[in-house]
Amino acid sequence: MGASARMIGVFDSGVGGLTVLRALAAELPAEQFVYLGDTARLPYGTKSAETVVRYALQATAALAAFPLKCLVIACNTASAVALPAVRARIASVPVIGVIEPGAEAACAASNCGHIAVIATEGTVRGGAYQQAIRRRRPEAQVTAVPAPLFVALAEEGVCEGPIAEAVAHHYLDPLFAAAGRIDTLVLGCTHFPMLGRAIRGAVGPGIDIVDSAQTTAGHVRRALERSGIAASAGAGAVRLLATDAPQRFARIGARFLARPIAPDEVELIDL
Ligand code: DGL
Repeated sequence: MGASARMIGVFDSGVGGLTVLRALAAELPAEQFVYLGDTARLPYGTKSAETVVRYALQATAALAAFPLKCLVIACNTASAVALPAVRARIASVPVIGVIEPGAEAACAASNCGHIAVIATEGTVRGGAYQQAIRRRRPEAQVTAVPAPLFVALAEEGVCEGPIAEAVAHHYLDPLFAAAGRIDTLVLGCTHFPMLGRAIRGAVGPGIDIVDSAQTTAGHVRRALERSGIAASAGAGAVRLLATDAPQRFARIGARFLARPIAPDEVELIDL
């Protein structure tokens, strides 16, 4: 099989990573993708690092059954705690997480160097964004807070309107009031771009909002091009796998992927 016939594996705790898959498919339209959503065990964001590492290694093992050319950890929480373990397990292909691209985009966007990050509890606790930003800009001030209700709202499709707006104010008003001058906000969770309008409404127009999905897609494209393994022609394809409730995955996931997903498009697998 030629290099261009191989697949890009993508995994997440559930449907959220479909925001990353959407950006990847737009950036790399000729590629074949296999996406695994670990819906049986979502959320990862409230679990211990040890558990998330174990889950991420199981997802990696399942995707390694496909002819992979690259593996993308679309989940911020898994990227934050499991990237080194996944890289060690699947050393033959490049593994790209969403934290480094998100940190890079935040550092490029920020003028004053004060960057806020909203994410899951696990991502904030592990400090991965804080470290990735300070590696690039040692003088940066980083304020990271968990915003777990955004995950539930996005899952329920309550992305706009008074409830979404109230939750956005609940998290963001104290953050921006207490932290002083912030000019950049990182959406450090797969679900948060779905609430982009409510988040923008709460922070106002003067703040740069960074969504790592887009930057990650650019990273993956450049990594494939550097290695000479990018697919240059042909129609791309997406294969969807879930560990539980494939019909729910199709229904909720359609919003994240921004296209309808037929229920029989999602294959149920066990890890
Ligand atoms: N995918 C997770 C993340 O980006 C959010 C959902 C979860 O907690 O599993 O951190």
